[in-house]
Amino acid sequence: MTDLPDYTDITPAKLTSGQAAKELVRLADELARHDQKYYGDDSPIISDGEYDALRQRNSEIEKLFPELVLDDSPSNRVGVAPQEKFEKVTHSVPMLSLSNAFSDEDVQDFCDRIRRFLGLDDTLELAMTAEPKIDGLSASLRYEHGKLVVGATRGDGQVGENVTVNLRTVKDIPHQLRGEFPDVVEVRGEIYMSHADFIQLNQRQEEAGKPPFANPRNAAAGSLRQLDSTITASRPVKFFAYAWGELAVQSWDTQMQVIDQFRLWGFEVNPLMKRCVGVDEMIRVYRIIEQQRSSLGYDIDGVVYKVDRLDWQQRLGFVSRSPRWAIAHKFPAEKATTVLRDIEIQVGRTGQLTPVAKLDPVTVGGVVVSNATLHNADEIARKDVRIGDTVIVQRAGDVIPQIVEVVEDKRPKDSEPFEFPSICPACGSKAVREINPARGREDVATRCTGGLICPAQAVERLKHFVSRNAFDIEGLGAKQIEAFYHEGRVTRPADIFTIEERDSRSLKKLKDREGWGDLSAKNLFEAIDNKRSIGLDRFIFALGIRHIGETTARLLARTYGTVEALIEAVDEAGDEESAAYLDLVAIDGIGGIAANAVIQFFAEPHNREAVDALLEQVSPQPVEAVANDTPVAGKTVVFTGSLEKMTRSEAKARAESLGAKVAGSISAKTDLLVAGPGAGSKLKKAESLGVEVISEEGWFDLIEGA
Ligand code: IVH
Repeated sequence: MTDLPDYTDITPAKLTSGQAAKELVRLADELARHDQKYYGDDSPIISDGEYDALRQRNSEIEKLFPELVLDDSPSNRVGVAPQEKFEKVTHSVPMLSLSNAFSDEDVQDFCDRIRRFLGLDDTLELAMTAEPKIDGLSASLRYEHGKLVVGATRGDGQVGENVTVNLRTVKDIPHQLRGEFPDVVEVRGEIYMSHADFIQLNQRQEEAGKPPFANPRNAAAGSLRQLDSTITASRPVKFFAYAWGELAVQSWDTQMQVIDQFRLWGFEVNPLMKRCVGVDEMIRVYRIIEQQRSSLGYDIDGVVYKVDRLDWQQRLGFVSRSPRWAIAHKFPAEKATTVLRDIEIQVGRTGQLTPVAKLDPVTVGGVVVSNATLHNADEIARKDVRIGDTVIVQRAGDVIPQIVEVVEDKRPKDSEPFEFPSICPACGSKAVREINPARGREDVATRCTGGLICPAQAVERLKHFVSRNAFDIEGLGAKQIEAFYHEGRVTRPADIFTIEERDSRSLKKLKDREGWGDLSAKNLFEAIDNKRSIGLDRFIFALGIRHIGETTARLLARTYGTVEALIEAVDEAGDEESAAYLDLVAIDGIGGIAANAVIQFFAEPHNREAVDALLEQVSPQPVEAVANDTPVAGKTVVFTGSLEKMTRSEAKARAESLGAKVAGSISAKTDLLVAGPGAGSKLKKAESLGVEVISEEGWFDLIEGA
């Protein structure tokens, strides 16, 4: 438990920065405690709803105060503390593998073999189940009296690893079986990751400067075999139940019935599973599943047929390590060789430059592939992929083809290493690799710095520009901006403010748009005009500078007062040795990353032009002190001597934001003197006038929590 004060009654929007920082620590502590109860001890002490509310509050505060997000924020962590190493688990019934069929004939042979073994004559029906073979990793879940007690990986089939804590974080896996159940039951199935989750995870990996996973299977396996279950919990793995190990009571006749039972107990079972009779029907189901393969949203690599009758499964038994009663009918190979003709750089909506290999079209696993992702500059360098190379392509994640490797002996003699561009191909602005704070070195992603003018990012930027906490123009939301952009009415922020003027000269008038009229157009023009004067903090935030959220925008606005002063300071701050740079990074809440982002933004001439054009239309207003309920509200404060924890301008901005008036000299009206070391005449004068004098530390104590 924590002894920090709690501000649970204060809505996030009303928290001061000091309160928010403490509240984030308290919430992290509280959530960790509940995670331990839920994931570690399997005995939660609050309802899911209450838990979700805590998480929700935590992320709302993080959104409002991005600079206060903790390194080990609960948003990045779910689950409990790391284990030392995995214990071994001996499977009570071995986990077997399947033999393979690669052709229709192989399937025919499989059925013939079974008929012979069981001595079935031709009149007897041999029913099979057919279901996708999920490309993940298998897991065995042991339930005693309906409660999940052990979860294990397959391992070598005899002995696996105890990953119970991790498996408990998987949403598809019930901690408690529903309805009636035998005393002991081991449910087995496949842990896998969907394509969508895989893509997102890899994006997160890249953002965190970590190498991407090669395919969803590796991602799922890597996630499950984490010693730190908080990592598993933050990775969206799923589970399909399709088999069993130990079962105390045998009260089912067919495979299908057991699968139905799994569903009733609360498991996910594959919806494509079908019962079929005869080889023709089996092959038909195989083809149907194969056709659906690329749209399933997760990887499958074949179809598994199983004898439906359990008494026959029993009689058939096993050969070496596979059952006689089941077989995997595999899909065609997923790799192919082709030539890489070009490397195209695509710019995403957030400005990230992604290299895409343009290939000679080739069929991979039944689908024609002509593009493959190369992820980033490091990936190209690591694989040394060059234009003209013969490459091996794989459809990992089924939908996103990748280059596995280069066939080196087919490399053209005159080929040269690929040089990753340092200019954004969409707008010509500089493209940079930021320093990743987590790693202290370059980020894997290269980003365009031409945020405001880059056509690839323009729509997103414009949407941000008009968003609620930025310009917030009534009647001009994300949908409208998107439409205006595509109609060519608005391509950069300044255009918003010249819409009316251009509209009067245009043949395609706004009022003639579908659903519009004189009034809607007039209202929009008015709403736009209302925002020609806007707070400097909103103005800065609206520019959409990377790493500059609302709070940092407010800090910049308060520190510099005007756009001109901000730009001048930022220009000077381009030199890291300069006083301006030191002043900028010394602002409490603005670290090196945010500072560099502002510097880079204004250093890009395209952005400067866009800001200048905007400034011809709108006038940002200095931010006024808002607070009137703080210990220093209404007081006149003077700072003197050298301050150690803040710059003079920062001290002034902070005091003003708390409702104080900051004066340059001591007079009878002065309420408070904050004196650092080396204070001279002002200190003497204050003492003679009986003005209260406090140290810098005393000042922080005074305003703490405000
Ligand atoms: S049944 C006794 N059904 O394939 C047979 N296995 O090569 C138990 N697999 O280790 C397996 N999808 O990881 C079965 N629908 C499915 C499957 C499936 C994927 C995997 C499983 C197993 C491997 C065997």
